Amino acid sequence: MGILIINYKSYKEAVDDGLSIAEAAKEVSKELNVKIILSPPFTMLKDIARVSPSIAQGMDLEEPGAHTGHVSWYEIKKSGAVGVLLNHSENRIASKDGKIDYEKLSSLIHLCLDHDLDSYVCVENIEEAEKVVLFNPTAIAYEPPELIGGNISVSTARPSVVKDFCSTVKKASNSLALIGAGIKSGEDVRKSLSLGADGVLVASGIIKAKDFSAAIRELSLPLK
Ligand code: G3P
Repeated sequence: MGILIINYKSYKEAVDDGLSIAEAAKEVSKELNVKIILSPPFTMLKDIARVSPSIAQGMDLEEPGAHTGHVSWYEIKKSGAVGVLLNHSENRIASKDGKIDYEKLSSLIHLCLDHDLDSYVCVENIEEAEKVVLFNPTAIAYEPPELIGGNISVSTARPSVVKDFCSTVKKASNSLALIGAGIKSGEDVRKSLSLGADGVLVASGIIKAKDFSAAIRELSLPLK
């Protein structure tokens, strides 16, 4: 069974229709027996996690305490979320030069492990994947930033990189290999699986769809 992660980002549509999207995901997941995980904004996490398995869009290292504006593992755990999406290209754990802060990322992954939260870590290329596999997160997701939000899927635009990415992850770890960016159709998902991916991350293809229910269904069918 493959995995579909629906990233709500901070799209207005996701905030307005977030619960209906979660209900639709729950229904499709049950009907097709596909694992669908939602990643809503922090403010919606508790409500959405009641309906469908959900992961937070990030996490800070601070322990619960006097840390205004930080989101601790404890809040995430208490919200009912099952994990965290880390290092998304729109929320990189990086220093000023844009390079990943591997020490911080590794600490965050360990924090997840300590508190029984799954860790879904995004990378922008294979070099980053090679380093992140050493931390053994639940999943590593390859998302080339230039394709995010577009209409050409990562599986169509970068088939050989996707193939290399998936075998890099699988050779070196137990982490799942996921891919995302520009995935809009069932065919995009089928291609992703044929290149070795265990699942996909999708945002605009569902959140911006005219009929999000139909979009979730179309993208889930190949994952059965
Ligand atoms: O996390 C998934 C996301 O970055 C992909 O976005 O809009 O290309 O599906 P999108």
